[in-house]
Amino acid sequence: MRTTKTKFDLQAYLIQRQQAVNAALDKFLPPANTKPRTIHRAMRYSLFAGGKRMRPILCLAAAEACGGTIADAMPLACAIECIHTYSLIHDDLPALDNDDFRRGKPTSHKVFGEAIAILAGDALLTHAFEIAAQAKGWPRYPHKVIFAELAHAAGSKQLIAGQVADLEAEGRAISPRELRFIHERKTSALLCCAVRLGGMSANCTPAQLEALTRFGYNVGLAFQIIDDILDVTQPTEKLGKTSGKDAKARKATYPAILGLEKSSKLAEQLTNRALAALTPLGARAVPLATIAEYLLRRDK
Ligand code: FPP
Ligand code: MG
Repeated sequence: MRTTKTKFDLQAYLIQRQQAVNAALDKFLPPANTKPRTIHRAMRYSLFAGGKRMRPILCLAAAEACGGTIADAMPLACAIECIHTYSLIHDDLPALDNDDFRRGKPTSHKVFGEAIAILAGDALLTHAFEIAAQAKGWPRYPHKVIFAELAHAAGSKQLIAGQVADLEAEGRAISPRELRFIHERKTSALLCCAVRLGGMSANCTPAQLEALTRFGYNVGLAFQIIDDILDVTQPTEKLGKTSGKDAKARKATYPAILGLEKSSKLAEQLTNRALAALTPLGARAVPLATIAEYLLRRDK
């Protein structure tokens, strides 16, 4: 699906959706003065540090692409953002990537100390399921399916597997195949889960779910390649996190293995595959397609 000829104001759409997601997250999270205050302040600090909200926005767009509503998809969109934020807090810890900046602000452990940062991550992961429990549940996708979907994407065969493989690949030459394994799990799994859950909140058909899965998988892989390219090409101020860290840590990335030009081409190829996957969803998938094109050209 190509979107260049359609009139779709992506910037206005993204701002409106970010605001809607922020308002919903605020409602779903315990107030900052809930006892013990430290943990609730830490959860909110990272959750409201200025993330782009791409996963929840994709979740909502996927719901619409299948004829669903924002209201029905919102608890699932917010659950995904909580899991994403937990993963960033833990990724930044000294024992993992040891980063001082994220989303333009000092990382959780820099502000609250390591113990509270670990617990804030744990609490956000757990709270995601409490939020998801507030979703309605659908004939094809009752709560047990929704919970299994979230747990699988965040679990030891997907998100955690990617993170472990990423850590174990540091400082060693790996094949493009091993790198694909890492990207599929540490980034694509959660992004794919976001669009699948959006579809589920519209009680989508198996064929629609298949289209969304292919879309999410390919957009997720392209997203990580672009993330790695930006780490090389953009300054810290622009990224809101320390740039150039991958090369320093001798991380396995596509720019390191293939070079920048081939990596860009690969991201474009994957995005094209994602766009092609949307064909069965028709005109309602224009926002999803426009977001995928935007993610390919993003500069932060
Ligand atoms: C940036 O997202 C994040 C990624 C590209 C994913 C990287 C994967 C991990 C850090 C996995 C960590 C997993 C564990 C279990 C610790 P973004 O650009 O959307 O960030 P934003 O929300 O700040 O905009
Ligand atoms: Mg990492």
